[in-house]
Amino acid sequence: MPRQFFVGGNFKMNGTIKSITDIIHNLNQAPLDPGTEVVIAPPGLFLLLVREHLKPEIEVCAQNVFDKPNGAFTGEISAEQLADAKIGWSLTGHSERRVVLGESDSFIASKTAAALSGGLNVIFCCGETLDQREANETIKVVTHQLAAVKEKTKDWSKIVIAYEPVWAIGTGKVATTEQAQEVHAAIRKWLAEEVSTAAADETRIIYGGSVTEKNCAELSQQADVDGFLVGGASLKPAFVDIINARQ
Ligand code: G3H
Repeated sequence: MPRQFFVGGNFKMNGTIKSITDIIHNLNQAPLDPGTEVVIAPPGLFLLLVREHLKPEIEVCAQNVFDKPNGAFTGEISAEQLADAKIGWSLTGHSERRVVLGESDSFIASKTAAALSGGLNVIFCCGETLDQREANETIKVVTHQLAAVKEKTKDWSKIVIAYEPVWAIGTGKVATTEQAQEVHAAIRKWLAEEVSTAAADETRIIYGGSVTEKNCAELSQQADVDGFLVGGASLKPAFVDIINARQ
C-alpha cells in the first residue's frame, strides 16, 4: 500500500487565541488535498481550543509529552491525559528540545515509548547539526538517534519520522532535494535492517527545515520524502499550499 502523504504544522511557541483561531478558520474552509494526512501542533495552552474548533479531518498534536502516566511532575502532561482530551499525536525529539532543554536520546526514547503506550501517535524528530554534517557524520547521528528509540519501542506503526537537519530549521536554508532524499533513503535502509521490511515500507519519513510553498513541490517528488514538518510557514495561509504540494 502506498504511504499516505503527511504534513505536520509545528507552531512552536507562537500564536495567540486570536491568531490561532484565524488559522483554524483558514484550514477549515480551505480546499485541502484529501490524500494528505494533516496534523497541527499548537502550543499546549491551545490544544483544547484547536481540537474543539478545527474540523475533525485534521488531527491535533502536542509539542511535548512526559514519560510517566501521572503523578508529581509539575508542568508536565502525559500521553494518557492527551489521549483523554482527544489529542492523538505528540512530537518527540525536536532539536529545540534536544538543544535548548537538554533532552537526551534516552529520555526522548522513553517519552516516545510512553506516548505510544498511552495511545498516541508520534512524530519523532531527528537530524544533524551543521558541524556534524561537515564532519560527514549525518547518517551516523541520525541512526544513533533512531537506535535509542528502537531500544524502547518494538512497534513502529504509529511513528512518523521527521528528518530535520538542525542547520535548516528556521534559517531559510532548506536542504537540497538530493540531501533530503539521501538521508531519507538511509533512514529507510536502517528501518529495513534494524526493525523490519514492513516498517521500512510503511513508515512515513517526512522532511522539516525551512519548507515553504515555493520549495515543497520539488521535495515532495523525492521517492523517500513522504511529507513535511513545517514550522514558520505553518502559521501562514501558504501552509495550505504545502498541504497541497502534490496536487
Ligand atoms: O518543526 C518544525 C521544524 O523545526 C521546521 O521549522 O519550518 O521554521 O524551519 P521551520
